[in-house]
Amino acid sequence: MAAAVDVLRVGGLVAIPTETVYGLAADASNRRAVRRVFAVKGRPADHPLIVHLGAREQLRRWAGSVPPVAERLADAFWPGPLTLVLPRATGVLDEVTGGRPTVALRVPDQPLVLRILARFGGAIAAPSANRFGRVSPTRAGHVVADLGGDVDLVLDAGPCPVGLESTIVEVADDQLRVLRPGVLTAAEIARVAGREVHEDPGGPARAPGMLASHYAPAARVVLVRAAEAVPAVEGLLAAGRSVAVLAETLPPGLPEGTVALEPVGDATGYARHLYDRLREADRLGVDVVVAVVPAPTGAGVAVLDRLRRAAGPTAGG
Ligand code: TXA
Ligand code: MG
Repeated sequence: MAAAVDVLRVGGLVAIPTETVYGLAADASNRRAVRRVFAVKGRPADHPLIVHLGAREQLRRWAGSVPPVAERLADAFWPGPLTLVLPRATGVLDEVTGGRPTVALRVPDQPLVLRILARFGGAIAAPSANRFGRVSPTRAGHVVADLGGDVDLVLDAGPCPVGLESTIVEVADDQLRVLRPGVLTAAEIARVAGREVHEDPGGPARAPGMLASHYAPAARVVLVRAAEAVPAVEGLLAAGRSVAVLAETLPPGLPEGTVALEPVGDATGYARHLYDRLREADRLGVDVVVAVVPAPTGAGVAVLDRLRRAAGPTAGG
């Protein structure tokens, strides 16, 4: 913990665990440190970063204005996997916001990181600790494999319990819009907010960087319903492809030679294990991952979103 604070103070980069995914952290007030985050990730400069706060009370230091509905959401869900996009305070670096008039803020629910933030005193800008366009890391080993010596310190707190990136909600003119779905659902947010939450992530408000082909492993990803899994695998095997199957529970009757990735159990388990399983498929060197889609409710909404991006723009939305 002390080493992490020291590295942050001198403008270095620390890979930190959060409840969602591992982040690549830099002092959010240090222009040079933030620029290095972009360089290491290979990320375009106009894709803004999330600023991680140690406490909800810091919200007003980073946001230029905080409507009551944002206060309510912060009270209800922080620390936790909710990112609020709000008008930025003066002094927030353009490097962090990508030059936008808004800033993305969250308090992560990870005890070690909260202690680091408390000791550090500032805030940390942290994108997911993967190279641009690749699957986000949910274990310290994923970070080391992706970023290696480009990061000054990697903290290992085991696998991330949530496994998918935070839900991003834009609060503009008291209107709420989900820019990126997460395990915290629009319905849960609407209940606390006491108003409608727009779920359509399309349009100009969409979080920059939410490319259709994001979060992709090297293997091709094919999405199927449970009943289609066996015929899909048979077809791919017949075409000479090596195939892995990812599902909540394995469909019966998979042909011999299919690589069965460890089943994820339910939608929450799907969120928790998705990225690790996709990396596992790459480690095994399979050509195709046949993923059985979860029901589009609860955590399944965010899982489906990431699966579609992993499958790429040809997946039919
Ligand atoms: O769970 C998470 O959110 C993880 C952990 C590390 O906290 N972080 C994460 O960061 O997923 P990153 O950089 O991979 O994704 C941040 C997303 C990007 O899609 C970015 O475009 C969006 O947040 N974003 C950041 N600032 C924004 C802003 N001012 N307006 C709209 N979108 C913004
Ligand atoms: Mg990311």
